[in-house]
Amino acid sequence: MFHTFLPQKPGPIGIFDSGYGGLTILRSIREQLPEYDYLYLGDNARAPYGSRSFEVVYDFTLQAVKRLFELGCHLVILGCNTASAKALRSIQQNDLPYLDPSRRVLGVIRPTVEVVGELSANKHVGILATPGTIKSESYNIELEKFYPGIRVSGQACPLWAALVENNEHLGAGADYFVEKNLNQLLEQDPEIDTIILGCTHYPLLLEKIRKYTPSSIRLVPQGDYVAKSLQQYFVNHPEMESRCTKHGTCEFLTTESSEKFAENATIFLDYEIHAKKIVLE
Ligand code: DGL
Repeated sequence: MFHTFLPQKPGPIGIFDSGYGGLTILRSIREQLPEYDYLYLGDNARAPYGSRSFEVVYDFTLQAVKRLFELGCHLVILGCNTASAKALRSIQQNDLPYLDPSRRVLGVIRPTVEVVGELSANKHVGILATPGTIKSESYNIELEKFYPGIRVSGQACPLWAALVENNEHLGAGADYFVEKNLNQLLEQDPEIDTIILGCTHYPLLLEKIRKYTPSSIRLVPQGDYVAKSLQQYFVNHPEMESRCTKHGTCEFLTTESSEKFAENATIFLDYEIHAKKIVLE
């Protein structure tokens, strides 16, 4: 079986994203769980994933998960809503059993959904996400399971992740798209009292999103909820916790140029990093 070739000794926690967005998840996780080792992989050369088909997002995500397993991770977190929406279930159900049934891949949608119904007073929730995540209806399906009767409106924001990937998110050009997509969301349901930032890139646009959102509406970035959920996961799964090494380190891999990644990563993290370029296939 393939999995006998995977390293069996404990290793870092893998965090995957199409590009830089997962760094917002990594940052929150490291704040709450600083003792563990992390291996971040950004598929920047092929980002953004948001407008890609189900098949392509699945193929790319599986390649990344396999690589992180080969590099010693026993637990991989898809720090990307698009990958969580389009690839997580297939990987969990179809691929893990033959890759290595003892390894785990977790996503960011479930931990967000679990808390958001509690945050909304009137149960009118909005989701801002990539076209892929919105089209998958993953948030609607999961929210309805946890909070039957909840009203969920989703708005695709096709350019937001690209604005962040291209370091244009603080510029005046971003205002136009942020305002436009927020208005479209609020037109769907003017009673929304809670908005999920359903893409890990969007915390970088938080200031602009706040600017165009009525102050009565609560904005919910996901990082802290994903981190809390991971903490709880380790309490419930001590066998996985013991397979994650603890030296407080963090390494970075990218499919783009390592210099470019290191430079842009400082927008997301408040420390300098070094990155290594890899090829995924
Ligand atoms: N950051 C990712 C997400 O959470 C995807 C952005 C993209 O690659 O389009 O959905």
